[in-house]
Amino acid sequence: MAWSMSTLVRLVALAAGGVMGAQLTAVTYPNNATSKPQMHVYVPDKPWSGQGKGPLVVAIHSCQSSGPSYFNNAKIPWRQGSDRKGYVTVWPSSPNNGGCWDVSSKRSLVRNGGGDSHAIANMILYAIEKYNIDKEKVFVTGGSSGGMMSNVMAAAYPDLIRAVSLYSGVPAGCFVSSGGGVAQWNNSCSGGQSRASVEQWGNVVRAMYPGYTGPRPRMQVWHGSADGTLSPNNYQETIKQWTNVFGLSQTPTSTVQNFPERNYRTENYGTEGMLQGIWAQGVGHSVPSNLTASEQWFGI
Ligand SMILES: *[C@@H]1O[C@H](CO)[C@@H](O)[C@H](O)[C@H]1NC(C)=O
Ligand SMILES: *[C@@H]1O[C@H](CO)[C@@H](O)[C@H](O)[C@H]1NC(C)=O
Ligand SMILES: *[C@@H]1O[C@H](CO)[C@@H](O)[C@H](O)[C@H]1NC(C)=O
Repeated sequence: MAWSMSTLVRLVALAAGGVMGAQLTAVTYPNNATSKPQMHVYVPDKPWSGQGKGPLVVAIHSCQSSGPSYFNNAKIPWRQGSDRKGYVTVWPSSPNNGGCWDVSSKRSLVRNGGGDSHAIANMILYAIEKYNIDKEKVFVTGGSSGGMMSNVMAAAYPDLIRAVSLYSGVPAGCFVSSGGGVAQWNNSCSGGQSRASVEQWGNVVRAMYPGYTGPRPRMQVWHGSADGTLSPNNYQETIKQWTNVFGLSQTPTSTVQNFPERNYRTENYGTEGMLQGIWAQGVGHSVPSNLTASEQWFGI
């Protein structure tokens, strides 16, 4: 029997698609938190070619989004990064109405308290085992609500995460709800009225994992000067928070104008690679993710 050329071409294409077509996949993970966010994973076709086991990047979405829509958002570059460099990415989906992350209730603002942050930590633990990840190469990024959650993850799970690159968020604990509500909006914080001393902000982080004295993730904080959703004041408050946690001076050790983009300003605190602020002059909500700069921060 002679197969037509077009049938053959189609068969070959099908086979190639089956072998080459990495896809975002929903996975079930052991999760003993009260909160039950869905977990998606993207394992690219290209294997990690760097030294040792591969890294993991957790990409945390903004409000009114989900893991899959963040993954498919052309402005979110982490799928591209995965494909190019061969690292695994995890895409959590908020279980809350409105799709924001719970960064307001006590259960999310304390280690293993059963909230969204606890569930994301469970995703990280599962991914390390399942996808043969180097536990020294676990990184977290996110924008807006995902940027807020990135700060909370850094505070509550410093032992799990090596570095964070967060865009347009607020300090860890800034969105706290006095009534203990889950995923509540906080006008004082979003409006830039939540100001506190460096010590007070540092205490908020330390209270999320009391007694912890080990290493902390290296923090990169991006914020736009024209942010009309989460006041630009949150940039300085976040820097205050982490300088206190790291025991660093609030005066940058170096400042680079027009980097990584024109009108941006990069400020390093302490030894280079510990805490970096990137102030995006004239940029609103949210600062677009810069894959190169975030990957550089992670060291991947
Ligand atoms: C959830 O599981 C972890 C590790 O398996 C354990 O350390 C933790 O105490 C458990 N938390 C709850 C709320 O059951
Ligand atoms: C909003 O957050 C601030 C801290 O940033 C807190 O003091 C205040 O009580 C919160 N507001 C509400 C209504 O929960
Ligand atoms: C992203 O950052 C890098 C430096 O890490 C810079 O060279 C590049 O121009 C930036 N990309 C954009 C689109 O601004």
